[in-house]
Amino acid sequence: MSELNTALEHPTYNYKVVRQFAIMTVVWGIVGMLVGVIIAAQLAWPILNFDLPWFHFGRLRPLHTNAVIFAFGGSALFATSYYIVQRTCQARLVSDGLAAFTFWGWQLVIVAAAITLPMGLTSSKEYAELEWPIDILIAVVWVAYAVVFFGTIMKRRTEHIYVANWFLGGFIITVAVLHIINSMAIPVTLTKSYSIYSGTVDAMVQWWYGHNAVGFFLTAGFLGMMYYFVPKQAERPVYSYRLSIVHFWALVAVYIWAGPHHLHYTALPDWAQSLGMVMSLILLAPSWGGMINGMMTLSGAWDKLRTDPILRFLVVSLSFYGMSTFEGPMMSIKTVNALSHYTDWTIGHVHSGALGWVAMISIGSLYHLIPILFGKERMYSIDLINVHFWMSTIGTVLYVASMWVNGIMQGLMWRAYNQDGTLTYTFAESVAASHPGYVVRMIGGTIFFAGMLVMAYNVYMTTRRDVAAQPSVADPSPA
Ligand code: HEM
Ligand code: HEM
Repeated sequence: MSELNTALEHPTYNYKVVRQFAIMTVVWGIVGMLVGVIIAAQLAWPILNFDLPWFHFGRLRPLHTNAVIFAFGGSALFATSYYIVQRTCQARLVSDGLAAFTFWGWQLVIVAAAITLPMGLTSSKEYAELEWPIDILIAVVWVAYAVVFFGTIMKRRTEHIYVANWFLGGFIITVAVLHIINSMAIPVTLTKSYSIYSGTVDAMVQWWYGHNAVGFFLTAGFLGMMYYFVPKQAERPVYSYRLSIVHFWALVAVYIWAGPHHLHYTALPDWAQSLGMVMSLILLAPSWGGMINGMMTLSGAWDKLRTDPILRFLVVSLSFYGMSTFEGPMMSIKTVNALSHYTDWTIGHVHSGALGWVAMISIGSLYHLIPILFGKERMYSIDLINVHFWMSTIGTVLYVASMWVNGIMQGLMWRAYNQDGTLTYTFAESVAASHPGYVVRMIGGTIFFAGMLVMAYNVYMTTRRDVAAQPSVADPSPA
C-alpha cells in the first residue's frame, strides 16, 4: 500500500493535500446539499420540523449555508488553489506541514460548526454565525493558508504570476480582512459573545462582510479556478490575457463598495444606499468581461462541447455566472429591490450563483483533477459525468425558476392594495400561494443532490481502478 502511495505521489508537487481536500469537497457537498434538501422540504411541509429544536429550520438553515459555502466551496478552493499554485509556479508547496495543518484545521472548523449550529449556538450574523473560539481557529488556519499560498508564489520557478493566482491571492487576503474585522466581539462565556459593533454600524459592517464573502469567497476564488481549468480542459490559451488583468483589477476595485445594496430602505444613510446601488451597476462590466473571457477561450474548440461533459460543466457554470451577475445589478436598483427584497427572488438569485456557478465550476474542475491526482488516465465513467451534468442543469433550472415565480408573486401580493387602502392579501395567503414553488424547488434540489451521489460513485470507482493498467502516474504536462 505504501509503495502504491509513493508511486502515486507526484515527484515534485504535494498532491496529497490536494487529494484530501478534493475528496472532502465531494463529501461536504453531499452533506451540505442533503441539509439543503431537508430545509427545502421543511419549507414545503413544516411538519417535518418534528418539534425538535436541533432539527428545526432556524438551526438547520445556517448549517446548510455554512456547509455548502465553507465546507464544500472552501474545500474546493483549497484543493484547486494548492494545485494551481504549484503547477503554475512549477514549485512544490512551501511547507507540507503547514498545508496539512490547513487541511485538518479546516475540517475541525467544519465539525465544530456542525455541532454548535444545531445546538443553537450562534453569533446571529449571517454567514458569520460561528462563535468566537471557532472564529479564532478560522483566523489561524486562514493565516497558515496565506503563508502556504504566498510562500509558494515567492519560491516560484516561473517568471510571472499566472492570472489565476491573482484571483486566488485576492480572495485569500480579502477573506482574512473581512473575517477578522466582522468577527470582532467581546466574549462573555466560551459559547457566547457580543459584537463590538451596534445598530446601523453593525448592519453596515455585516453586509460589507456578507457581500464581499459573495464577491471574494464565492466569486474571485472560483474565477481563479475558471482561469486555470477552462483553458486546460479546452486545450486553448485564455482568450485575452490583457482582459483577464483588467478583469481582476476592476473586480476587486468595485466589489468592495457594493455591500449597501443589502440594506436598501433601512436606517443606513440614503447616500450610502445609492452608492452601493451605483457600484453594483458598474460591477456588471467586470463580471461580464470575465464571463466573456472564459467563454471566448473556447473559440475554435466549441465542437468539444459535443463530446466532453466536463467542458459542458465549465461552460454552463460560466453562463450561470453571467446570468446571476446580470440579475444582481438589476436587483440592486432600489425600485427593483423594493419588489425583490424579503422574497424568494433573492433565494433564486443566490442559487443561480451557488448551484449554477459555484457548484458547477467546482464539479467540472474536480472531474478534471481527480484522475490526475489519483494517477488515472480519466474518470471511471464519462457517461456518468454526462448524467451528472444533466441532473445538475435540470436541478438548478427547476430551483431557480420556481423561486423567480414565487418571489415575484410574493412581491406583487404584498404590495397589492384595495381601493379603501387595505391590503388585498394576508401574509398567510402569500405563503399558501408559494407552496407549489416550494415543492418544485425541493424536487430540483433533490435532483441536484442525487447528481452529487452519482459523482461520489464515479470518484470512488476512479480511485479504485487498477493503477498498473493505467498508462500514466502523473500528468506530465507543465503548467
Ligand atoms: C441541493 C442543493 C440545495 C438545496 C436544496 C438548497 C436549499 C436551500 C434552502 C431551502 C434555503 C433556505 C431558503 C429560505 O430561507 O427561504 C437555502 C439557503 C441558502 N443556500 Fe442553499 N440549497 C442548495 C445548495 C446550495 C449551494 C451549493 C450553496 C452555495 C454554494 C447554497 C447557498 C445558500 C445560501 C447562501 C443560502 C441563504 C440565502 C439567503 O439568505 O438569501 N445552497 N438553500
Ligand atoms: C455583479 C454581481 C452581483 C450583484 C451586483 C449582486 C447583487 C445582489 C443583490 C442586490 C442582492 C439582494 C439583496 C437584498 O435584497 O437583500 C443579492 C443577494 C445575494 N447574492 Fe448577489 N449579486 C451579484 C452576484 C452574485 C453571485 C455571483 C452570487 C453567488 C455566487 C451571489 C450571491 C448572493 C447571495 C448569497 C445573496 C443573499 C444575501 C442574503 O441576504 O443573505 N450574488 N445580490
